Parts: sequence; structure tokens; C-alpha cells
Amino acid sequence: MKVGFFQFSPQFGKTQPNVKEIIQAINGFEGDLLVFPELALSGYQFLSKDEAWELAVDVPSGPVCQQIEEAIQGRALHVVVGLAERGVNCLYNSAILIGPKGYVGTYRKTHLFFEETLWFAPGNTGFHVWDIGPAKIGLLVCFDWFYPEAARALALKGADILCHPSNLVLPHCPDAMVTRCLENHVFAITANRIGNEERGDKPNLSFIGLSEIVAPNGKILHRASSTEPELFAAEIDVTQARNKRINPYNDLLKDRQPEWYT
Ligand code: ACM
Repeated sequence: MKVGFFQFSPQFGKTQPNVKEIIQAINGFEGDLLVFPELALSGYQFLSKDEAWELAVDVPSGPVCQQIEEAIQGRALHVVVGLAERGVNCLYNSAILIGPKGYVGTYRKTHLFFEETLWFAPGNTGFHVWDIGPAKIGLLVCFDWFYPEAARALALKGADILCHPSNLVLPHCPDAMVTRCLENHVFAITANRIGNEERGDKPNLSFIGLSEIVAPNGKILHRASSTEPELFAAEIDVTQARNKRINPYNDLLKDRQPEWYT
């Protein structure tokens, strides 16, 4: 199976140019699964709830979802895209999964970071695993990495690959994902963004790039630069994620002792 990410710098408030870049990446990608960053259609640093609402989209009925569906049609490809989703009287920081037959599902970010708490409601989807054929995948969005329970929940539900759209500003996540993969024996695709956003009176935000694909043994199969756009694909052997044995005596998930964890 071939999986990848597209690291780029979404332009704040420029939905259609951002969609165009996403569709160009889809057209240039050869593989089965492609992950895009968090809030890839709108940009990150909103100044008000009204602004966030204006830049959010309806899922799956909105025209943007349909443009992405059309770009995939006829190909054996699934994509994960981070976007601001309009709910009923609230917004979610979501990631959507679209496949050859169209819209598949949505994950709404559970652990909101910093000012996201002003614009978005905490996700209410829980952690879901989708079988996309060559693999079972689960979705996380950015700061969810900080809560090992999120990745664990997906591993316990059978995820082989964690798809992780991100807008990282702090340096720790790319290294931490090595641990998330090792402690769950799963692959992870962190698709981060690059570039800066300085809006209104707010401090300049600089996004760290370093998108990566990590294997179940903790090996970083590829890590992008901190500044350059990159469309990357790697061949992976999904069966590696299905072997939860650590040694002849230990099975990663079966050896858990949940009665002691509360
Ligand atoms: C983040 O959750 N965007 C850091």
C-alpha cells in the first residue's frame, strides 16, 4: 500500500486557491491514501467566530467537498482533509475522509488547542476506524497527539494507520509520534503545514512543517523539511501494524491492565 502527505502553506481566507492546491496534489499523487493538513481550506488564525463561520464549510453537501470528491472519482484513492465544519449553531475543527465512492465520514477534533476553544466546539464523534480496503484507518487532528488515549482508542478499535492532519506550532509532536506509533504498533501519517500567519493584533504564528510517516517500530520512514512544500508517498506493509507482539512473552494490547488505569 502506498500512503502519503501533502505539506503546504494554506493561504488564510482563500478557500478556492487552497482547494486548487489540494486538487493539484491529488492529481499529482500516485498511491492509495493521501493526508492533508488541519484547516487546509481556511487557514488557522481566525479573528472572530463570524470569520470562522464564513470560512467553514458544510459537510458533505458543500461545494468544496464535492470538488474534492470529483477530483478523486474513478481512482482507488482515499484522502483525509482538515477543515472547519459548520454544525448546528457551532463549528467543529474536523477532518473528512473521501474515497472513490465519495464522502465516507468525519472526525471532529476532540482536544482543542489554545484559541481554537473560542471558535470551535469540542468534537463529539469519538474515535472511529474506517476500513478503506488495504488498511483500517483512524483520524486524529493535531493536538489530539498530546493525549495518548486518543491514539490508543484507535489502536484498540483496530486502526493500522493514524491519519493526522496538523497545524503544529510547538516543536514536540513529530518526535512524540514515534512513541505513539511504538506504543500502539501502528503507522502514523502526520500532515503538517508550513508558513506563517500574522492576523490583526495577534502574534505571528510560524508552523513547523516536519510532516512525517512513522512505522509501527518507531522508524521515521520520511520527515519533510520545516519550510518547503512537499508531496510525498511511501510504500508500507500494513501487516506490520497487525502484529502486536513485542516478544514471545508480550502482546502489546492483550497485556494491558485496564483495571489499574482509572
Ligand atoms: C494544534 O492543535 N493545531 C496545535
